[in-house]
Amino acid sequence: MQALRRRLLVTSALPYANGPIHLGHLVEYIQTDIWVRYHKLRGHECWYVCADDTHGTPIMLRAQQEGILPEQLIEHIGAEHRADFAEFDIGFDCYYSTHSPENRELAEWMYRRLKEAGYIEKRTIVQLYDPVKKMFLPDRFIRGECPRCGAKDQYGDNCEVCGATYSPTELRNPVSMVSGARPVEKETEHYFFTLSKFQEFLREWVHQGHLQPEVVHKVDEWLKAGLRDWDITRDAPYFGFEIPDAPGKFFYVWLDAPIGYIASFKRLCQERGLDFQEYFGSQASAELYHFIGKDIVYFHVLFWPAMLHGAGLRTPSAVFAHGFLTIDGAKMSKSRGTFIQARTYLNHLDPQYLRYYFAAKLGPGVDDIDLNFDDFCQRVNADLVGKVVNIASRCAGFITQRFAGRLAEALPDPDLFQRFLAAAEGIAELYESREFGKAMREIMALADLANQYIDAKKPWVLAKEPGKEPELQAVCTQGLNLYRLLIGYLKPTLPRLARDSEAFLNLYEQSWPGASTQPLLGHKIQEFKPLIRRVDPDRIAAMLAASRESLAGPPENPKTSELIDYADFARLDLRVARIVQAEVVEGSDKLLKLLLDLGDETRTVFAGIKEAYAPETLPGRLVVMVANLKPRKMRFGVSEGMVLAAGPGGKEIFLIAPDIGAQPGMPVK
Ligand code: 2FM
Ligand code: ZN
Repeated sequence: MQALRRRLLVTSALPYANGPIHLGHLVEYIQTDIWVRYHKLRGHECWYVCADDTHGTPIMLRAQQEGILPEQLIEHIGAEHRADFAEFDIGFDCYYSTHSPENRELAEWMYRRLKEAGYIEKRTIVQLYDPVKKMFLPDRFIRGECPRCGAKDQYGDNCEVCGATYSPTELRNPVSMVSGARPVEKETEHYFFTLSKFQEFLREWVHQGHLQPEVVHKVDEWLKAGLRDWDITRDAPYFGFEIPDAPGKFFYVWLDAPIGYIASFKRLCQERGLDFQEYFGSQASAELYHFIGKDIVYFHVLFWPAMLHGAGLRTPSAVFAHGFLTIDGAKMSKSRGTFIQARTYLNHLDPQYLRYYFAAKLGPGVDDIDLNFDDFCQRVNADLVGKVVNIASRCAGFITQRFAGRLAEALPDPDLFQRFLAAAEGIAELYESREFGKAMREIMALADLANQYIDAKKPWVLAKEPGKEPELQAVCTQGLNLYRLLIGYLKPTLPRLARDSEAFLNLYEQSWPGASTQPLLGHKIQEFKPLIRRVDPDRIAAMLAASRESLAGPPENPKTSELIDYADFARLDLRVARIVQAEVVEGSDKLLKLLLDLGDETRTVFAGIKEAYAPETLPGRLVVMVANLKPRKMRFGVSEGMVLAAGPGGKEIFLIAPDIGAQPGMPVK
C-alpha cells in the first residue's frame, strides 16, 4: 500500500435508456471498470458511478409507440442494463437514473446558479414544427432534400451524400418522421447557455493536462472557430425536467445528463456517508475522471467544464476518450450479424473472454479497437487458458493428491518469486496510464517464465521417481506462488478469475502485490477445478447467428413487430403516373418495358405484367408508382421505380388505377 491515499471519482458515459447495451458500449465500461478496480486494489478510495440517460424525444416517442409511459420504459430498460453490467462484472458503486429527484434538484440548482451568474440568455428562435403531432421536431426526426446537392431523404442536420451540414429550416421538401406531415416554421423562446463567455477559460483549461493530446488538437480547432452559445431548451411535449419558472419548456437531455454524474454520486454519498463537498465543492481535493467515447468529446470538454466552472463547482481532473469498436475491421452491422448485444454475447460466451480481449487491445489513445473473432479465440485460448490457468492446473493436482493439499515450507527459487514481485510497480504504472494492452503483454511474459520453469523442472517426471517427493512439492509450490502473483496482476481485468483463484488458493481477497507480499508456504489449498474454459468457435458462430435473428424483430410480440411506423409508410413516395409507352422485352416472358409520365419527368420501369396485359392496351392508362425507389439495374436495362398491382402473379395480376380526375405526378395518400 502506498503512503498517499488518493480519492477518486470515476464515471462512464450514461447509456441511453431506449436500447440495449451492445459490445460497442462495453469497450468503455470494461475500460473504466479495469481502471477503477486497479485503483481500489492499490488501496485508494475510488468510486465508480453511472446511470441510465433517460430523457429526450426518442425515449418519449418509443414509449408512445409501445403504448406505455416513459417512466415504465426507462424502468424496464434500466433493469436490463443493470443485469448486463453485473454479468460483465462492471462494478459500479452506484448505478442510478437521470430521472431521479437528486438529478432534478441538481439540474434546477445548476440552472439557477448559471442564470444568477449571467450565463443564461433567453432568445426567440425559429424551429420546424409538426402541425399534426403538435410538437417541435429534433433534427433527427426530419427528412428532406439536401439544400446543397439535392439528395433525397436526408436528415435535418446533415447530408449523408455530400456531407453538407445545415439547419433543418434549409432542408427542401421536409417531412416529419413522426407523423409524415410537412413541418412548418414556428417561433419559440429558448434559453441558451452562453458558452461563448467561457472561451478564455476553456482555452486555458484544455491546455492544463486534463486531455489526451489528440483531443487537445481537436478542441483547439473548435476554439479557433469560436464557441457558439448552446440551446439548452426543448418545448413540450418532452420527457425531461421542466425548467423552473418556464412552463412548457424543458431542459435538453444533454444538460441534465452530465449533471447525472453528480446526482449518482450524491446518491452514493447518502448511502455511504461520504462528504460530497470534498468531491464537488469548488475546493474539492478529490480527483474526478470521466471516461467517454470520442463522439461526445464536445459535450465533455467544452460544455461540461464550462457549466461546472460557471456554477462554482470544480472541473474534471481528466476526460479520457476512447475510440469505437469495429468488428472484423468494419462498423458493427445489423445485416452482417455483428451488431452484438451484451445479452446475446452472454447467452453464448464467458464475459471474461471479452474483458481480457478488450484489455489486451486497449491503450490510452482514441484509436478504434477491432474485434476479430479468430484473433479473439486464439488470444484467449493461448493466453488465459494455455499460459495462465495452465500453471495452476499443472501444479495443483500433485499438491492435492500427493501432499494432502499442503504447500512446501520453502520456495526452491526465491529469486524467481522476487523477480515476479519486482514487476508490480511497472505493471501498476501501465494500468495507471491506461496502457492495458502493454500491461497484459507484460503479465503474459511473466506467465511464459513460470511455464518455462515448470517445463524445466518437469513435475510429471518427478512424480514418477522414487524419493523425489520433496522436490515435487517444492516445484509445485513455486509454480502456484507465481500463479498467485499473476492473478494479482490480472485482478483488475479478470476479477472473477481472481476470486475463483483466491478461493482455490484458500486466500483472503488479495490486494495488489508489493514488497510485503510473502510467499504462501506450508499453506493448505483447495482442490483445483478448471477456472476458465477454452473458447469454442461453435459458440461464436451460434452467437453471430443469434445476433442476426434478433434483428428479425422482437419475438415476444410478433403482432407489433409486423406493424410498421407511420414514418416508414411516409417514406414511400407514391405517385400517379400515366403509361406513355409499353413494349415487350426481348428475351423475357414476364416483363413489359413501360415509359411513365410523372407530370414533370418520365421514368422507365420494367413491370412483370406481360402475361396479363397486351402492351398495346396500356398507353394512356393511369397507374400508381413508387417514385422514390432506388434505380435497379436489371438484365434488360435500369428500372426507375415500380408500378403497383394486386394479385398472385402470372395472368392474375391487376394494375392499381387511380380514379378519373387524378393527374400524373399527384402524390398518393
Ligand atoms: O451518447 C450517449 O450515449 C449519451 N447518453 C451519453 C451521455 S454521457 C453524460 F454526459 F451523461
Ligand atoms: Zn447533399
